[in-house]
Amino acid sequence: MTDRVLVFYGSYRSDRLGMRLAQYLVAGLRARGADAELVDAKVVGLPILDRMYKEYPKGEAPPAMEALAARIRAADAFVFVTGEYNWGPQPGLKNLTDHFLEEWFWRPAAIASYSAGRFSGVRAGMVWHNILSEMGMIVISSTLAVGPIAQTLDAQGEPIGSAGESLQRAFARFSDDLAWWTEAAREQRARKPPPY
Ligand SMILES: Cc1cc2nc3c(=O)[nH]c(=O)nc-3n(C[C@H](O)[C@H](O)[C@H](O)COP(=O)(O)O)c2cc1C
Repeated sequence: MTDRVLVFYGSYRSDRLGMRLAQYLVAGLRARGADAELVDAKVVGLPILDRMYKEYPKGEAPPAMEALAARIRAADAFVFVTGEYNWGPQPGLKNLTDHFLEEWFWRPAAIASYSAGRFSGVRAGMVWHNILSEMGMIVISSTLAVGPIAQTLDAQGEPIGSAGESLQRAFARFSDDLAWWTEAAREQRARKPPPY
């Protein structure tokens, strides 16, 4: 069965760089046979959180929120491209995820952090791990940490130099790990439907 994977990216900056990693991950997951799609929070364009999706009467959520809820519910796994602003996650990504809760449950999530420097966004990635756990996802232990991102991936999301080679090696294990948990969670959901 094909794994349906959503790759989330949440920078709203005009000169954003993390799209390189998002594109790399979507391409890499597709090359493995997954049905991978990018969810660009800036394109989805949810407002700053007012009401969560579940707080709208059925059928009355804004169309973009309704459509995204359906995509999240239909997915088998999630990958979060996690940039770092002042040692924390990016507000655009946090805002998007906070709109949902039960929609995230019972699926694995993987974190790919990045930054402009050598710390590779790992501080934001650690905070993000806790946030995703609170939202009911199974956060896998394999992570990617990419930095400096501009010396690892070119503008098309293609690996460059020795840093790019290192990312390629890490991606193999990262994606194997995610696929294992994706299959495990899907089989468990089929065997024993989630209680809520
Ligand atoms: C408001 C702001 C805060 C930042 N804070 C950090 C930081 O704490 N650690 C870090 O390594 N890089 C930091 N950076 C640099 C980012 O890693 C770099 O700008 C990166 O490209 C941001 O992702 P984006 O281009 O996808 O928006 C910060 C950048 C911005 C705009």
